[in-house]
Amino acid sequence: MKHLLKMLDLSKEEITDILNLADQLKYELKHGIPHPHLRGKTLGMIFQKASTRTRVSFEVGMYQLGGYPLFLSANDLQIGRGEPVQDTARVLSRYIDGIMIRTYDQAEVEALAEYGNIPVINGLTDFSHPCQVLADLMTIREYKNRLDGLKLCYIGDGNNMANSLIVGGLKVGMSVSAACPKGYEPHKTVLDFAKDFKCFELTDKPLEAAKDADVVITDVWASMGHEAEREKRIIAFKGYQVNDEVMAAAKPDAMVMHCLPAHREEEITTKVFEEHATEIFDEAENRLHAQKAVMVKLMG
Ligand code: CP
Ligand code: NVA
Repeated sequence: MKHLLKMLDLSKEEITDILNLADQLKYELKHGIPHPHLRGKTLGMIFQKASTRTRVSFEVGMYQLGGYPLFLSANDLQIGRGEPVQDTARVLSRYIDGIMIRTYDQAEVEALAEYGNIPVINGLTDFSHPCQVLADLMTIREYKNRLDGLKLCYIGDGNNMANSLIVGGLKVGMSVSAACPKGYEPHKTVLDFAKDFKCFELTDKPLEAAKDADVVITDVWASMGHEAEREKRIIAFKGYQVNDEVMAAAKPDAMVMHCLPAHREEEITTKVFEEHATEIFDEAENRLHAQKAVMVKLMG
């Protein structure tokens, strides 16, 4: 594993290795055991979009590993004025030891990895959010003690989260169902990958997708970059809300997860959100541990 660009690139063994190391680093942190695996190393963090969790968890995680996190707003970099990503990649490779990038186009992240010679970590693109899904899988495993054979249900927009959850879930042996409105299905590459799995279901009926689910996951209806479509999407996604009715279709002990930020009373009711707040904020915390594991694997 040289980079973390998308879930499609990871094997089941690589995912399991990351989750095991994440569990270990979490244990060490909670017990005050130092783990300076990246002493003297620098991570550059390029942000073309807003972030709370990704920025803070990478920054703090790098610090806890003994390294130095360097926040690089795209507005201040020459990349924001059109310097090609190919050149940025080759320049940054001369100074730092790894790059985390949050941007729009997946191709930009792939180009950084191709032209640079340091590890690149995808901190979210329109296509994929692998760091979040590693933290999600870590959280599910913490609560359920396994992943294999569980049913993961995703309800909502066929966005970066849907794409990454479908691939990640199927790779680790989960059944995956996704309920998306017509016209808002997951990416074709993901559906091509999923079509060979008997345990994958794509539907436009949320209650069907949620039936007997062990985990119900949702995300915003209008992702970053789609803000202008918000009103149109509120209409299109009516009926794709995680609420009591959906939860009644899932298993009685089903977990609920949300990558955050959440829009209460849109994709999830306040009631369901608050009933599952412990899981949701454990999920947010696990971003830190999962990403530290990724950085140690790639940069250690
Ligand atoms: N879930 C997530 O990636 O959050 P941020 O946008 O705050 O980084
Ligand atoms: N799908 C959301 C996830 C935010 C963490 C977005 O891309 O805005």
